[in-house]
Amino acid sequence: MYEEGKARIKFEKGAFLNPEARISRDISVALVKKFAKRSTSILDPTAATGIRGIRYYKETKAKKITLLEINRSVARVAAHNLKFNKVRGNLLNQSIQEFANSAKETFDVIDLDPFGSIAPNLYDIMKLVHNGTCLFLTATDTAVLCGAQEKACLRIYDAKPMHNELCHETGLRILLGYVARTAVQFNYGVEPIISLSYAHYMRLFLRLRAGANASQNSIKQLGYAHYCGKCGFRSTEKRIFPRMQKCPNCATLLDTSGKMWVGVIQNKETIFSIARTFEGDQAGSKMLATIGGEYQIPLYYSLPKLTRKLGIPAVSPNDLINGLRKKNYTATRTHFDSSSIKTNADIQTINKVLIKL
Ligand SMILES: C[S@@+](CC[C@H](N)C(=O)[O-])C[C@H]1O[C@@H](n2cnc3c(N)ncnc32)[C@H](O)[C@@H]1O
Ligand SMILES: [Zn+2]
Repeated sequence: MYEEGKARIKFEKGAFLNPEARISRDISVALVKKFAKRSTSILDPTAATGIRGIRYYKETKAKKITLLEINRSVARVAAHNLKFNKVRGNLLNQSIQEFANSAKETFDVIDLDPFGSIAPNLYDIMKLVHNGTCLFLTATDTAVLCGAQEKACLRIYDAKPMHNELCHETGLRILLGYVARTAVQFNYGVEPIISLSYAHYMRLFLRLRAGANASQNSIKQLGYAHYCGKCGFRSTEKRIFPRMQKCPNCATLLDTSGKMWVGVIQNKETIFSIARTFEGDQAGSKMLATIGGEYQIPLYYSLPKLTRKLGIPAVSPNDLINGLRKKNYTATRTHFDSSSIKTNADIQTINKVLIKL
């Protein structure tokens, strides 16, 4: 039996269950707990063992839980687990596509957790939302988003990925940009709450806002990331088309990635608020502390990459952060990578500080 939160998953045979995704489930439950009422409706459209639906039912006030599972034998597994956990949910052995095209209802929370990309399901999921719906989305096609499969990223997300040390952040921003571009087709804007890159997956928590203004505000957050492979310069541009082509430091042709979301990706107030009452495990608390403290500026700096280029011994991220803070720059750790930092200092300043450490 697998136990997580208040869920007891007795039946797993043939159904997918990844204990590594606990952090994603813990944070999802913590977020829903914050606002859920008895009448809050939740859709777990990729149920597998049913663990997410079960946890929402047992750990939050929400009692209107619908679960979908396309695979018949897996749906049976979910049904057994619902019964075993005394959860009165509405479980359907239906695909998202079938359900979305006949459903009369919309949901307050939808937690889409498919195998691989969200792309084949997102359009149908958007038929099940209303103003204020919280969308929680998992992507495990990180090789595509992180640029190991550039052609697939262009095809699926209509975005050019970056295949270097920044790929976790550019990948997450490409994913968020794609969600925003899909949402606006339905006249919704997106408000990111939490955006994570963790282990082999990416996870977005966002709220939808109806209307042309909200949609337009989301479109304004789209743009491009630039990177100079020669001197390490990086920046973003919020624009329909990128204008920057050459590095302002060394005139090298920039590696440009996008379209992607270049705006803010975390809602600090919500993160601090759920961190205060968080009941998940240590990895989740640590993640909330790191993203809560992470400086909200796009694109981090990887220390091993910087020190290797300078030909100097390894430097700890905290030493560089302290060095930059002494010079009145903002600098913090980042959840994207434990050996990287975020700062408003430019590459030349960072290099100068590194050499003097
Ligand atoms: C990654 S697993 C879900 C894991 C689960 N949410 C958890 O936290 O353990 C994805 C599940 O979605 C189901 N699935 C895939 N495509 C689907 C679709 N179009 N509609 C409904 N279910 C689908 C698969 O059969 C599989 O059981
Ligand atoms: Zn350069």
